[in-house]
Amino acid sequence: MQTKILKIDSADAGKTDMQEAAALIRAGELVAFPTETVYGLGADALRPEASRKIYEAKGRPSDNPLIVHIAEFEDLVSIAREVPRQAKLLADAFWPGPLTMIVWKNDRVPYETTGGMETVAVRMPDHPVALRLIRESGCLVAAPSANISGRPSPTEAAHVARDMDGRIPMILDGGAVGIGIESTIIDLTEETPMILRPGYITQEMLTDVLGEEVRIDPGIIASNSEQKPKAPGMKYKHYAPKADLILVEGETGKVIETINRLAGERRAAGKKVGIIATDETMEHYDGADTVSIGARSDEDAIARHLYKLLREFDDRGADIIYSESFATPRIGQAIMNRLLKAAGHQIITV
Ligand code: TXA
Ligand code: MG
Repeated sequence: MQTKILKIDSADAGKTDMQEAAALIRAGELVAFPTETVYGLGADALRPEASRKIYEAKGRPSDNPLIVHIAEFEDLVSIAREVPRQAKLLADAFWPGPLTMIVWKNDRVPYETTGGMETVAVRMPDHPVALRLIRESGCLVAAPSANISGRPSPTEAAHVARDMDGRIPMILDGGAVGIGIESTIIDLTEETPMILRPGYITQEMLTDVLGEEVRIDPGIIASNSEQKPKAPGMKYKHYAPKADLILVEGETGKVIETINRLAGERRAAGKKVGIIATDETMEHYDGADTVSIGARSDEDAIARHLYKLLREFDDRGADIIYSESFATPRIGQAIMNRLLKAAGHQIITV
């Protein structure tokens, strides 16, 4: 299959290109498109065979449910068995935006889209191209991140092309995304709302809007937890680079010393070693394959660059990557959740 890549200027999304993309969605085909978090791989959410194509293109386990992307709050009402009281409050505060809500599904939503679950994940993305694709197609658009299953999520169209070229008919290129890590997922199907995946919208922001307790799924915090995460996707070794990733946390001077020592040992053993540093620490590391993820004080930049860096180390053929740790104040929890998973929970505390 030939993959057509169309550049769409977000401000003035090309009219005929968008019509072509929308027609593909209506025909049950796949179109990759930008959102504010990461690129998505879209298909008509209410057609079983369209959802099946997504799993096939990604090589994704079919028990891992998809997020349904919508353009109006009424779209959520149209696929939910009941609309939880919190949904309207959260939509008013955060939609369009990087928040996914889990609600009970009705019969319109096929099990192919929900991985066999009775609940459905719904999100209104804050990106002009995504919103136009949904509106123009007249469909609700199921979309996981547009990477091959297990690879880091794509934050640029080139990443999507790398993974999906020849597998899907079209990629809409809207440039680099703004946030760079996937949406926060909140489960509204139980008495107390629960965060199933941390993201740009934090627990504190959610609690402030709801005026009630919001829990965090215990299954996503500890690596050795007996408890399985509630979002099926969180149990897979996800977001993973090909290289072995090892995190080092602690006082900055000691972290630098430890990474330099370990990197030196591995290089001596013939390995190709990468280092993820910050603007502040960059100059203290030895070796050519040291890359800065941004300024430590700029959490947004760290989130935005993370997946791109992991992909770059793959392209350079790194065997091992050592990374500083980024438990920054606001979205540090989301960043560390992704990094810990990419590292398979290998962390050294110094
Ligand atoms: O930012 C995002 O959310 C991006 C963009 C494209 O919107 N999408 C995304 O989709 O990250 P994906 O498929 O890569 O991740 C969806 C996550 C998975 O961990 C999945 O298990 C979980 O959402 N999920 C989906 N439906 C669910 C449900 N009904 N109950 C629990 N977890 C669910
Ligand atoms: Mg994903």
